[in-house]
Amino acid sequence: MLRYLTGGESHGKCMLAILDGVPAGLSVDAASIDRELSRRMFGYGRGKRMAIESDKVEILSGLRKGVSIGSPISIEISNVDRSIDRLPVVLEPRPGHADLPGVLKYGLNDVRDVFERASARETVARVGVGAICKLFLAEFGIKITSHVTAIGSIESSVRSLGFSQLITMSDASPVRCADPKASALMCKEISLSIESGDSLGGVFEVVVAGVPAGIGSYTQWDRKMDALLAAGMMSIQAIKGVSFGLGFESAKRKGSLVHDEIFYNKKNGFYGHTNNAGGIEGGMTNGEDIVIRCAMKPIATLRKPLASVNIKTKKPIKATVERSDVCAVPAAAAIGESVAAFEIANAFMEKFGCDSMREIRRNYDGYIEQVRKF
Ligand SMILES: Cc1cc2nc3c(=O)[nH]c(=O)nc-3n(C[C@H](O)[C@H](O)[C@H](O)COP(=O)(O)O)c2cc1C
Repeated sequence: MLRYLTGGESHGKCMLAILDGVPAGLSVDAASIDRELSRRMFGYGRGKRMAIESDKVEILSGLRKGVSIGSPISIEISNVDRSIDRLPVVLEPRPGHADLPGVLKYGLNDVRDVFERASARETVARVGVGAICKLFLAEFGIKITSHVTAIGSIESSVRSLGFSQLITMSDASPVRCADPKASALMCKEISLSIESGDSLGGVFEVVVAGVPAGIGSYTQWDRKMDALLAAGMMSIQAIKGVSFGLGFESAKRKGSLVHDEIFYNKKNGFYGHTNNAGGIEGGMTNGEDIVIRCAMKPIATLRKPLASVNIKTKKPIKATVERSDVCAVPAAAAIGESVAAFEIANAFMEKFGCDSMREIRRNYDGYIEQVRKF
């Protein structure tokens, strides 16, 4: 079983993760992890924090000569801004954050004690974990990408692009949107929000290609691949909705316009002409691309702050204003890829084993052959 914990505060010394259960024999290089970390920092609308941080991983354990040995892989990403002990006490919780329920729950007198950990800076450690999972999945031809499909009310018209086209088009956009026209409008919308002191959310789509049919299971609620992916996505800060394939749109259509018909030929085996299910049926992958959409709410820290109450005096006051992003949907998309990589790698290992790459390869090849001959 693959599992991980993260540690670290936003303005503390560093962010940490321990990833347990990585099989022996996987090549892991810091450069690949750093590439994913830089994708998380990307996107028009990010705040000044991203201008000062340049996230780089240090791998502290679990490898010998760049290859995993079956023991936990520990990673550290240093924070450039480590001012946590010098930062002022905050008494004005921000609406839309963990601030108020956090101080109530832990009996704290300083809202900063809550948001230093609740901050999405935590996701830098998760992206590090996801990068290792991506290296594992790549060994079996599984690739993951993402693109932004909406910023505020501006929507991309891209519905179904090929995997590599999706990467090329979205990488060319400052907001990682594969529709150039919508991308320009999204940037304009973000500029307007920057000027007016407001913030924006949006929608991103994660696409996973190359997963064989039969990962996850229909036999128990907690083994369903879509449930596991949805829980992972919902754990990303500010994600408020997750859907697969046609998602909520499928509720409006008749069955004949939703369900993917099944075809067969000798060369391809079973296949479909559509992928409205988003690659998962009955809690199992069906061999099509997995398509996950996530809705992100607008950033909650506003330059023109909302009403709040001082937790000491109980008097009305404006919420605290911290250095903040205005829109972080492109970054959230990269985090979504990492979360998907972890969940799929874990379910993949449940099916094919988890001790050594050699063992997993043998089981995987045998299964692919079994499906081919079915
Ligand atoms: C990549 C990313 C960056 C974020 N940056 C900020 C930010 O700069 N300021 C802010 O107020 N919220 C930011 N958020 C959102 C908050 O972390 C989140 O809304 C808050 O922790 C409350 O959690 P909840 O929205 O899931 O309830 C960001 C989220 C993500 C995924």
